Amino acid sequence: MMIITRASAMRKKTEEWKQQGCSTGFVPTMGALHGGHLSLMNEARQKNDKVVVSIFVNPLQFGADEDYDTYPKNIEADAETAGMANVDVIFAPPVDELYPRPVRTIVHVEKGVQVLCGRNRPGHFDGVATVVMKLFQIIHPDNAYFGRKDAQQAAVVQNMADDFNLSIDIVTCRTIRETDGLAVSSRNIYLTEKERKQAPQLYKSLLTAEEKVHQGERDVSVLEKVIHNSLVNHTDAEIDYAEVLAYPELETFSSSSGQIILAAAIRFSKARLIDNIIVPLRDTKKGEKQDVPDLDEI
Ligand code: PAF
Repeated sequence: MMIITRASAMRKKTEEWKQQGCSTGFVPTMGALHGGHLSLMNEARQKNDKVVVSIFVNPLQFGADEDYDTYPKNIEADAETAGMANVDVIFAPPVDELYPRPVRTIVHVEKGVQVLCGRNRPGHFDGVATVVMKLFQIIHPDNAYFGRKDAQQAAVVQNMADDFNLSIDIVTCRTIRETDGLAVSSRNIYLTEKERKQAPQLYKSLLTAEEKVHQGERDVSVLEKVIHNSLVNHTDAEIDYAEVLAYPELETFSSSSGQIILAAAIRFSKARLIDNIIVPLRDTKKGEKQDVPDLDEI
């Protein structure tokens, strides 16, 4: 496995692979690699001849009061994790390699950002879209892998790929969970012992709402209340949002078919956690059980 830090060297490597007829799978990350990233890398490994993982804590997507300066960094541990998935290249550029001067051009995301994580993180998804676009231009992957835990990010990237006619397949992979249901995240290490015990309630609150959907509940405010109350009753966390929307449109859902996202974000003392469940809908009368598996469980 190689570690490449320069954009020109990275581009040369993937061009070389292309000339050899090899496909490239790409997993963008900010490092602090965990089981969720490992599953994305394994998926990329199975479906592509070559695999690149980027490790870059992108200053453009952090707000002034967010954890950019303290975001966990450990390239040695990350290289070990990437090695487990037999990754070919880690692309780990320093900040001034991707941003050698103040940015003059950004990718501005128009739709799907006034909800969920976007509402309280102005500019966050512009920062994500800009760096992902830059990484795509340097690496030119055939397939790029994103986790469904960041469902809003996956939708934003998919929309960007469609809107800019990118010939890259955006692959969204299932959320990886600890045995008690907590979604794995680089920020879980910041939970105190007490918070770690309460944290699985985030997923439990979504499962409770999902059950209501399967029983035929379609009233957004009822579903949001179910999530909210379940969090208030079982955790000391501050609730950032408990939201139910059409997915992947991320708009108020108005039809009885398609999919909905049940999503929540909570803040503990040093960690903000997010989670979601995407539920396929079909016409169900209230009280009638809908026998549809949660996509997360597939
Ligand atoms: O999900 C992340 O880790 C980041 O938002 C990403 C996609 C690597 C862009 O910086």
